Amino acid sequence: MNICCIGAGYVGGPTMAVIAQKSPQTRVTVVDMNQARIDAWNSGNLPIYEPGLAEVVAESRGRNLFFSTDVAGEINAADIIFVAVNTPTKTYGVGAGSAADLRFIESVARTIAEVATSGKIIVEKSTIPVKTAETIQKILGANTRGLEFQVLSNPEFLAEGTAIVDLHNPDRVLIGGQKTPAGQKAVQTLADVYADWVPRDRIITTNLWSSELSKLVANAFLAQRISSINSISALCEATDADVDEVARAIGYDSRIGPKFLKASVGFGGSCFQKDILNLVYLCQSYGLPEVAAYWQSVVGINDWQKKRFAAQIVKALFNTVSGKRIAIWGFAFKKDTNDTRETAAISICRDLLEERAEVVVYDPKVPAEQIRTDVLGKGVENDRLIIVDSAEAAAVGAHAIAVVTEWDQFKAIDFEAVFADMPKPAFIFDGRNLLDLEQLRKIGFNATGIGK
Ligand code: NAD
Ligand code: UDX
Repeated sequence: MNICCIGAGYVGGPTMAVIAQKSPQTRVTVVDMNQARIDAWNSGNLPIYEPGLAEVVAESRGRNLFFSTDVAGEINAADIIFVAVNTPTKTYGVGAGSAADLRFIESVARTIAEVATSGKIIVEKSTIPVKTAETIQKILGANTRGLEFQVLSNPEFLAEGTAIVDLHNPDRVLIGGQKTPAGQKAVQTLADVYADWVPRDRIITTNLWSSELSKLVANAFLAQRISSINSISALCEATDADVDEVARAIGYDSRIGPKFLKASVGFGGSCFQKDILNLVYLCQSYGLPEVAAYWQSVVGINDWQKKRFAAQIVKALFNTVSGKRIAIWGFAFKKDTNDTRETAAISICRDLLEERAEVVVYDPKVPAEQIRTDVLGKGVENDRLIIVDSAEAAAVGAHAIAVVTEWDQFKAIDFEAVFADMPKPAFIFDGRNLLDLEQLRKIGFNATGIGK
């Protein structure tokens, strides 16, 4: 069996590395048009940071796992082609700001149609709007000289930071296919790949459209829980209730469950906002404005929560941060990743810079240049955005520390020493409810958390 995956990103790379690890008899090649990315996958310095990934790649690379820019050659050699290209929010034309930009998906479909000399199973791994398989089928059907293609939907549910654990032990693998004999045969072929390590009862099969839609709905439900608890965090602050206690109390109800109820500075990451906006656009397109408005509000609360956090800092610092140094601890959208896409830190840093603060950022995994580009835009300079290489260094001379990412190392910091280096009153705003506020208050900090 030959598998090719188009797109060597956060999904394509780890997913294929695990297939190659668990299925040594399968030859797996990940292709990308980005030469630098492929070079990094072939080097000792992988392009993404993910716990356990380097070990998994090392096990199979050069044996049955390969990274290449020969997109056409590998498409031709493959029996199964995974499509894991990016599907960002459209930034132009109709649907700008909400619809999915499907130009990379279409271009892949056209490349397959152009270069394939035998029939293939095409697997949508990217997150796409429901009915995208129809588009792919039409493009292939119109261009492929009678070759037999089956398009399957197999959305990916891994979360960054835990990608390898999630891939090794998924809650479920979802495969959608056509209800024809050929479609069902293709579904079985793909199910057999996963069955090398995933129990059969966790491999769920549905029709194509249910599978495509389920991915958007899963992310919308997860994000909705975060916006729900974040909305309640504001009410907790107004009423002296504690959001962690409320989350615990409601999470004990087995119908609600304890996970994904952690109040925060707001969700980030490349998926939640993009996928909800995609869902909103779909609802609007299908004439369902009430449904669209309902899901739009999940993003609305999230934007508000990010703004609210920065505004609280300004308010607590006597309504001015102009000329004051503020330490930002953590920039990635969550711990254990170097990914900064849609991280709440961008909005928070921008708001504080707008208030003329000196913003000093530390993140253990995100390169300085990435932080600068994310906050200011490519090539733009601002002396008031400073990036340092330790949390302690960020706090020296700072009026306030804002914990934006829940990196474990922040829990082990010597806060007495940090306090000594800060002008007084010294503030800590824990945007992740990570730290022991009582302990910090004993040291002398003005310490506040989200929903506390
Ligand atoms: P990414 O941007 O990290 O990687 C996509 C890669 O595809 C890029 O390296 C790009 O160069 C490559 N590419 C684009 N068009 C190409 C083409 N025509 N030929 C060859 N290569 C091409 O994106 P990602 O985070 O891996 O996400 C990929 C998809 O998976 C998206 O649809 C996303 O919504 C979905 N997804 C992402 C996550 C996640 O945690 N990041 C989780 C589940 C699903
Ligand atoms: C998400 C989905 O979890 C995953 O199934 C899907 O495949 C891709 O999108 P990811 O964005 O990588 O994964 O990370 P996730 O753990 O879901 O966190 C997303 C954001 O929500 C992060 O900013 C995180 O800090 C935040 N979050 C998460 C909260 O603020 N509170 C929570 O309780 C959980």
